[in-house]
Amino acid sequence: MVTSVLPRVESLASSGIQSIPKEYIRPQEELTSIGNVFEEEKKEEGPQVPTIDLTEIESEDEEVRERCRQELKKAAMEWGVMHLVNHGISEELMDRVRKVGQKFFELPVEEKEKYANDQSSGNVQGYGSKLANNASGQLEWEDYFFHLIFPEDKRDLSIWPKIPSEYTEVTSEYARQLRGLASKILSALSICLGLEEGRLEKEVGGVEELLLQLKINYYPKCPQPELALGVEAHTDISALTFILHNMVPGLQLFYQGKWVTAKCVPNSIIMHIGDTIEILSNGKFKSILHRGLVNKEKVRISWAVFCEPPKDKIILKPLPETVSETEPPLFPPRTFAQHIEHKLFRKTQDNLSN
Ligand code: OGA
Ligand code: NI
Repeated sequence: MVTSVLPRVESLASSGIQSIPKEYIRPQEELTSIGNVFEEEKKEEGPQVPTIDLTEIESEDEEVRERCRQELKKAAMEWGVMHLVNHGISEELMDRVRKVGQKFFELPVEEKEKYANDQSSGNVQGYGSKLANNASGQLEWEDYFFHLIFPEDKRDLSIWPKIPSEYTEVTSEYARQLRGLASKILSALSICLGLEEGRLEKEVGGVEELLLQLKINYYPKCPQPELALGVEAHTDISALTFILHNMVPGLQLFYQGKWVTAKCVPNSIIMHIGDTIEILSNGKFKSILHRGLVNKEKVRISWAVFCEPPKDKIILKPLPETVSETEPPLFPPRTFAQHIEHKLFRKTQDNLSN
């Protein structure tokens, strides 16, 4: 195994280098599609990530509820990603989540290293940076903090940031509220598929087994942003992903053959349909390819919460109700762990053939 000690991206960025190490430079074919994110965000022409207003998702009036569900359904089928507004999580709580995470990342790197994860021994929770997982040694321009935030009995509070002192309280409250939002969305999506309301929730593990994992992505300023990516192109493996950010653009979606830059929508939460729901819905809901750009001027931070089914307990496959003679199953049965394996394998194959 190749183990090389690489500095945190934050340390690289603050060292004053004018050109980035080669491991961070994307392959030639990819470079042509990487532009200036501030210019990209301004563009008004072409398709835009939909915005879904959830005000009426639980209206007393079934007709009103249905109208709201139809909007959500359309966005989930066409894009698989959307800005949620009026989602019920207060601006104040979102601001506090952003503040405690930002304060943690403002600590000196040495202080954060006390929380370093150790991927080789299977400790994925904590402070980390991507390790090269293939022959090309390709790296991403970000550091992160990753930990499980829900259900409460599965948390390991001993590895959560102790500074700032409000971190645990604020992050726990956000986790509880997001869990509630996830249930509402899963109910609505179930009805959209003609299933009973509680079905998708049950199929992804229910209250006991659906895991919420928080990844705070910290993207330092990059001296050559046109050569790097903060996160490389991928689809999320989760059932649903909810993302907050610090209003610095970076997220791009691969829609109809082009990279579309997500605008920064105040008080919204970005929601992705992940591979898990794509599989269960037999591809009716999409898990969209996306990536993150970096820039020279502003640090970007995002808070991604991945809602994931248990690794081995559930076999994921298209629900019988989503399959018919004309709509054969598009995905073979797999546990979540096997799905992760399959994606890693495919990626390795891709690299070997490059
Ligand atoms: C991710 C991701 C995008 C972002 O963490 O899976 O896609 O906006 N992040 O940081
Ligand atoms: Ni993602």
